Amino acid sequence: MLRTVTFDPSTVSVEFADGTRSRFHAIWLRDNALDPETRAPGNGQRLITIGDIPAKTTLSAAEVVGGALSVTFQPENKTVAFPADWLFAHRYDRDQSVEPGRVALGLTTWQNGFDAPSGDWAQVHSNPTAKRDWLAAVAEFGFAKLTGGPVEPEALLKVVDLFGYVHETNYGPYFEVRTEVNPTNLAYTGLGLQAHTDNPYRDPVPTLQVLYCLENSAEGGDSIVVDGFRAAQRLCQENPDGFALLAGHPARFEYKGADGVCLRARRPMIELSPDGELIGIRFNNRSSAPFVDVPFDKMEGYYAAYRQLAEIIDDPAMGVSFKLEPGESFIVDNTRVLHARLGYSGAGSRWLQGCYADKDGLLSTLAALEMAQPEAAE
Ligand code: FE2
Repeated sequence: MLRTVTFDPSTVSVEFADGTRSRFHAIWLRDNALDPETRAPGNGQRLITIGDIPAKTTLSAAEVVGGALSVTFQPENKTVAFPADWLFAHRYDRDQSVEPGRVALGLTTWQNGFDAPSGDWAQVHSNPTAKRDWLAAVAEFGFAKLTGGPVEPEALLKVVDLFGYVHETNYGPYFEVRTEVNPTNLAYTGLGLQAHTDNPYRDPVPTLQVLYCLENSAEGGDSIVVDGFRAAQRLCQENPDGFALLAGHPARFEYKGADGVCLRARRPMIELSPDGELIGIRFNNRSSAPFVDVPFDKMEGYYAAYRQLAEIIDDPAMGVSFKLEPGESFIVDNTRVLHARLGYSGAGSRWLQGCYADKDGLLSTLAALEMAQPEAAE
């Protein structure tokens, strides 16, 4: 419900039932009109372009009608209504101060001691609430385990079937992670791997990765995950200038380990939205290419910040470690969470399968589940 409305030709000011006041511009309201000539009633898609709206759109009337805002636009002489709750949800006349390094609403960063969220294979396949909770953990924390799955090759594809589609690459629909003679990629040897995000040489990067364990009787080989957003936040606190250097200059990444493949990307290690929100981390020592987009007089500072970020990522206080058992898997948001592996010995065997998938599909499945179960979505 709206209490009061005042207006002039260019703006309208409303007071909501809770006392909140917000202003809206005439041009913004016209663009977002909810009438069937502006928005398709079925799918909600906008039917007009910005060019269809008169540049000199003004308000000739604004009043409360049935608790909603009714406005009349000129020169179209068009009257439309905006429900109060819609206006409240879309108000922009509010404190929008920007704090660099903040995370999006709904994300929670974590470090060592974090109780890793986990779903159960049978539950997430049969119970929509369990599936929603598991997907919500991936959305909030960028990481979740799944336990109790079958010990059979390609089971990881069934994990992806729960929320979307496999993102196929030059490595195929999925890839094997096990010891090989003459490895073409260090991930396939018994060496430990520093925490990294996968495939930073792609643009865009694969946004989700699933790693599924089929055998793990070798000594060691524990998995470690690190919240890259938490690491970036720590860097921002400890060295704001270094944070700005990593966020403000592109790094370079490259992979040309196989015939016919030469992938290159020019993207920052810490990617921010234009208003300073963390949107991505790219960190991978194996595929870093020479950095050539940092001015000469900033290169030493850039390297110091790069080293400091690496030290934060390697800090045992940051990582959550666990050993996957056969039939267990985990999913990471590859734009945010780094994964690592401790070295393992040749005794016994370790066999994982990995694949990529798209986060937007997971978030879409989650949002649809939350709409279907609104009482539990808080
Ligand atoms: Fe990896």
